[in-house]
Amino acid sequence: MKSVEIKDGIHWVGAIDWDLRYFHGYVTPRGSTYNAYIIKDEKTVLVDMVKHYKAEELFARVKDVVDPSRIDYLVVNHIEPDHSGSFLKVLEAMPQLKIVTSPKAKKGLERYYKKELDCVLVNSGDELNIGKRTLKFVHTPMIHWPDNMVTYIPEEKLLLPNDAFGQHIASAERFDDEIGWDIAIEEAGSYYANIVYPYGDQVNKALDIIGQLPIEMIAPSHGLIWRSYIPQLITAYRQWANHEAPRKALIIYDTMWGSTQKMALSLQDGLESAGVPVTVRSLQTSHISQIVRDVLHSRAVLIGSPTLNNGMLPSVGALLTYLKGLRPKKKLGFAFGSYGWGGQGAKEVAAAIKEMGWETPQELINLVYNPDESELEAVRAAAKKLGAMI
Ligand code: FEO
Repeated sequence: MKSVEIKDGIHWVGAIDWDLRYFHGYVTPRGSTYNAYIIKDEKTVLVDMVKHYKAEELFARVKDVVDPSRIDYLVVNHIEPDHSGSFLKVLEAMPQLKIVTSPKAKKGLERYYKKELDCVLVNSGDELNIGKRTLKFVHTPMIHWPDNMVTYIPEEKLLLPNDAFGQHIASAERFDDEIGWDIAIEEAGSYYANIVYPYGDQVNKALDIIGQLPIEMIAPSHGLIWRSYIPQLITAYRQWANHEAPRKALIIYDTMWGSTQKMALSLQDGLESAGVPVTVRSLQTSHISQIVRDVLHSRAVLIGSPTLNNGMLPSVGALLTYLKGLRPKKKLGFAFGSYGWGGQGAKEVAAAIKEMGWETPQELINLVYNPDESELEAVRAAAKKLGAMI
């Protein structure tokens, strides 16, 4: 296994998870990587680790660069097991390592791995000189867990931000320009929507600090290393953190006998006639973790469910549970659905939308049995009206 030199004396030594398709509820069709880095200076540093079953790949790539017994420091930017799963194996292979981490990460590691640790604890703004270079640490709590921090090397204008700016992409390529902006930003958006969405305020605070730093390269812990699209990436992160979305509508629905689907397509028709680009996602064919990427990129979100057993369909319930946790803001919401009797399904959707604090300028539309053409025309008219408000 070969390492990749990303800057003079700084090497990628991570692992590629070609087979990863599920990451705590998030489907990852392109797989992922767990990125770790070796910095060779007067002191040699390993920054971050890999998932438990990838430890041997990490060791092989490390050995391509340096004798593991010569590594002085292990910087732990984040303790989630996709990075720390190999922690005990790393300590066993390199018992000389001094662990450099945040106080919260130390506590987390001790709790998770049932081991007392002697760590060099660093707070936000602390620096560690390793020779020609300095490691500067900035705490970034909740991007993605309370323990997260980023490591910045001013002499290299290099940011090692762990989860922030990551993407779930397994590839032979290591850099953004080797794959291209379109795929890199698509996966960065999907990653943001599924992992970072609830923490917009914290992202803004981190961007305020990171924005002051000269940066030539951002080397996250998942996916591609950014060197060619950094200003565009920072702009996108700022927009996402501020919950700014383009004038687009997203219709999400499930259907039992086709009535709610007919309504979804009539809503599409009405929105398009108001000049609004529309994406339509059926919960029967799109996974909720793919749909939340569309939520990130849409100003209006319309959600439809028929009524089953006096409530919404479980697929719609799962979507709303996921959305509630991810806390998307500044959306125009709209609920719709169909029913035979009772009609609680769409009402539950409307209540969930209200609970998320979205604006709901239009009342829900809930139709009995199979909608006729005049009812669908009313649905189109409501969508056209909503379109004018987006
Ligand atoms: Fe990539 Fe929060 O772990």
